[in-house]
Amino acid sequence: MIDSKESSLKNNSAASLQTAADGNLRHLLTLQNIPLTWLSKFFTHADECAAGNIERSLAGKLFVNIFFESSTRTRTAFEAAAKQLGADVVNLDQITMAGESKGESLEDTVRTVAAMGATGIALRHSQSGAAVLAAQAADEFGIAVINGGTGCESHPTQGLTDAYTLREIFGEDLSAVSVAIVGDVLHSRVARSNTQILRAMGVKNIRLIGPPGLCPPALKEEFDAPVFDDLDEGLAEVDVVILLRVQRERIDSYHLTIEDYFANYGLSETRLAKLKAEAVIMHPGPINRGIEISNAVADGKQSKILRQVTNGMAIRKAALLYFCGGKS
Ligand code: CP
Repeated sequence: MIDSKESSLKNNSAASLQTAADGNLRHLLTLQNIPLTWLSKFFTHADECAAGNIERSLAGKLFVNIFFESSTRTRTAFEAAAKQLGADVVNLDQITMAGESKGESLEDTVRTVAAMGATGIALRHSQSGAAVLAAQAADEFGIAVINGGTGCESHPTQGLTDAYTLREIFGEDLSAVSVAIVGDVLHSRVARSNTQILRAMGVKNIRLIGPPGLCPPALKEEFDAPVFDDLDEGLAEVDVVILLRVQRERIDSYHLTIEDYFANYGLSETRLAKLKAEAVIMHPGPINRGIEISNAVADGKQSKILRQVTNGMAIRKAALLYFCGGKS
């Protein structure tokens, strides 16, 4: 069972560590307590990145992706963004796992790439708290760590991407927008980061929906949001549905079948038809077609799934420029 209190404490300690005395951010570890003024400037900068108004200002810099878990979107977006900004990029994935199997700690891996001249690192790790450990080691060298998704606690560049996508659709003021997060909320770093950033941007109405094993009533306290186990009840009148990936092995462990899950919690065309006509459908990916979403909904007009991927490039560029290339 995920300890919600521990997750909040880890996010709080990450928030303190990433913030410099002058209010600037030295790392991007969490979206907990992220200042709205910082977000507004960051999104304006991401607009410039999306428009292509950015020079290759990371030429001569070395950026390292350290990924202990698989990733398609995040790792590729960091690599492509860094290369388009002129940086040299090294990806440590299987190599890092080999290093860890030889007994090297995460902190020593960070120190090693820092000693080679890296100016920034993106980290993905299965353990909550790993980004804080990496940032503490990176601080010995004055280089930045960007959390590419750690444990169940935090995935800040995904949260920034999703909030940026909603800002593109609804504008700067999200206070009247209602958002449902559906699926395995308990184990979801995306649900946590999205809730943190959406709260910072004024969203009041966030609902959590899922089977009790994956979205237990106790999450109400951690997220300060109502919890529903009935999808139709939870989705009533929402503007945005954020679907989460559900792992097949987790479905098995809660004695559900894929068919049961899709019937009760999957977004089908029938369910979509009951939503507001302009409701927006999002998913951080990777998507499981036929489990949390039907083909028709994933590929339909209301789906913003590929727009999230496109916006993820602008967000990673803005993050690289801010954290690895001199503050904007
Ligand atoms: N959304 C997300 O983190 O996807 P990847 O695992 O492919 O990076």
